[in-house]
Amino acid sequence: MKYDFDTVIDRRGSFCFKYDGLKEVYGREDLIPLWIADMDFQVAPQIKAAMQKRLDHGIFGYNQRLPIYYETVINWAKKRYGYEPQEDWIMTSPGIMPAVNLAVMQLTEPGDSVLIQTPVYQPFFSAVTAHNRKLVTNSLIPENGHYEIDFEDFEKKLKEVKLFILCSPHNPVGRRWTDEELFRMGTLCRQYNVPIISDEIHGDLVYNGAGSRSIAALEGMLDNLIVCFSPAKSFNLAGLATAIIIAKNPALREPLDTMLENLHLYMGNTFGIITLTAAYRESEDWLEELICYLQGNRDFLVDYIQAELPQLKVNTPEATYLAWIDFSYLGLTDDEVQKLLIEKAGIVLEPGIKYGIEGSGFQRLNFGCPRKTLSLALERMKKAIKEL
Ligand SMILES: Cc1ncc(COP(=O)(O)O)c(C=O)c1O
Repeated sequence: MKYDFDTVIDRRGSFCFKYDGLKEVYGREDLIPLWIADMDFQVAPQIKAAMQKRLDHGIFGYNQRLPIYYETVINWAKKRYGYEPQEDWIMTSPGIMPAVNLAVMQLTEPGDSVLIQTPVYQPFFSAVTAHNRKLVTNSLIPENGHYEIDFEDFEKKLKEVKLFILCSPHNPVGRRWTDEELFRMGTLCRQYNVPIISDEIHGDLVYNGAGSRSIAALEGMLDNLIVCFSPAKSFNLAGLATAIIIAKNPALREPLDTMLENLHLYMGNTFGIITLTAAYRESEDWLEELICYLQGNRDFLVDYIQAELPQLKVNTPEATYLAWIDFSYLGLTDDEVQKLLIEKAGIVLEPGIKYGIEGSGFQRLNFGCPRKTLSLALERMKKAIKEL
């Protein structure tokens, strides 16, 4: 491998939530943190070099996104996700969640209902309820060693909602939705006049050579879509708060664009612009190696659990660096599992219950770390479970 993903780097004291937030959230600092979704790897050297060059310039006033920025975004969408946005469809937001919240606020009215597929990334819930909209859930069904969509229920729920928030690939269950699944969801949403905001933040991290896929690439979908992606997960740039929001249809785009402008959220931060451009233009080979490394971590984790911890169950994630592990066979409550992991194993995962009621009994493990860290965490987990 040309790039190094094995070196363990001390992140403590770098103002990072994953490590420096442990004390505040869990009251202790000595845990192996496999919770919040960022990775323990340095960014690609190409990104560091671009940052260094801009840093050396030394002036950090207000930003202008030059044509090369838009060209870069368009080329990335074309090459990696299979569709070609036009420049005037592209908006920039300080993150995907600000855009999801704005979409709820701008495209629905208080009292309207919004559909999500649970278990799902927990801020989807508050993006709906914090704005006095009603949450409608379409539970994903564990089947055939992975989660599937209950389309009968999906269609029924579409009749009562004004917006659907799609998570693609899906956090936490690790599905890379197939073209058939995406097309079926998209077609039903069109049939019932329900626009989709598709959160594709994990879209680059797809395993087994399956390749990234966006619902936007499928025939006839773009007019009913807002698509969100960013280099935050795949290039480990979450702290730089820069995300791309694409909407072809002016009826979906303009309400968002106006709000981004009114709230002065459109200007962006200098290093967000520089790093997004360096990631998508210069760092694709780094991403390919990262995907291989993460796939190795994923396989190591799944094999370890099957061989050493048969009391637990895990599906092999098709995408994301998140594993969704079923602890329910231990016969403990969610709180007891959390206590066991923190107090006995000295590790912290994300409790599945945060992702909806369907997540009870599960924990989400972030394997975006050097294999050595992952291996140590699994050993500690095994020991704690053995001592039960
Ligand atoms: C599905 C999903 N959407 C959005 C986010 C956060 O995106 P942002 O930081 O750009 O708001 C995350 C972070 O974990 C995520 O997993």
